[in-house]
Amino acid sequence: MTLHVQPIRAGFGAEVSGLDLTQPQNAEIRAQLNDLFATYAVLVFRQQPLTPPQFMQAAEIFGPLTPQQIKKFVLPDYPLVGYNSTHDLPRKNGKLQVRGENYHTDHSNDLAPPKATTLVAVEIPSHGGDTQFVDARQAFDDLPEAMQQRIVGLRSLHVHQSSRSPRSFAKLSDEEMARIPRTLQPLVIRHPDSGRAALYLNTGRMEGIDGLDDEAGYALIEALYAHATQPRYEYRHRWQVGDLVIWDNRSVLHQANADYDPEEYRYLLRIMLQGAPLLAYGGST
Ligand code: SIN
Repeated sequence: MTLHVQPIRAGFGAEVSGLDLTQPQNAEIRAQLNDLFATYAVLVFRQQPLTPPQFMQAAEIFGPLTPQQIKKFVLPDYPLVGYNSTHDLPRKNGKLQVRGENYHTDHSNDLAPPKATTLVAVEIPSHGGDTQFVDARQAFDDLPEAMQQRIVGLRSLHVHQSSRSPRSFAKLSDEEMARIPRTLQPLVIRHPDSGRAALYLNTGRMEGIDGLDDEAGYALIEALYAHATQPRYEYRHRWQVGDLVIWDNRSVLHQANADYDPEEYRYLLRIMLQGAPLLAYGGST
């Protein structure tokens, strides 16, 4: 079997074909896929209408799976497989309140945030509901050197919901809340495989910058967020039924969109991959 790789942008995002992910993959293909993942950070596989166990098998190519944080949105028979379903979403003034609207990286307040998240589209609306990704590595590389030097070594406290969060998070049970950590994360992280630097941003969870007063800290976060989320760093995925997309939470930010007819059904299966404590770029931890 020969993999065909079609880059989406230079060095960011790639569509991979020539594979049937319902089947187990050999060591050579697995190694190739992991190399592609470290390079492109978002991989797209079309026409992979996977069952939950097949989806778990495919996701495991990239590493061990980790449990979903919100237990009420998991499949009863496959607790490692979550789902994003319009049927669970509250509405405000007729608009769906989707999870993940505004750019972020998943569970950034965890000591070891999931290294990757992957979705398989089961049902999608006729228009809208895209998922957007921005390349947080290229965004760092493009910063003026003086700004890079200023921010390397800084840290931010990531909490469940920042006091300045632009969005509300799903309500968690008391038991879930008790398990929610608060973690000081590097503002610039180093990818453990590629060694590349990336901005590590999540305005929904960042509670200022350690060592800076509130005004300076939030101003810096806002400026970096505005820089990193420019269209020139973006890949916008327009879903088709059967798409599997996997993204690297240490290289990209992503956001969901609520721009579709709330009466139409959108349903995707979701798996997360186990991560490790983040590495600071230019540092040892
Ligand atoms: C997510 O982060 O799982 C949301 C992505 C989406 O539903 O578009």
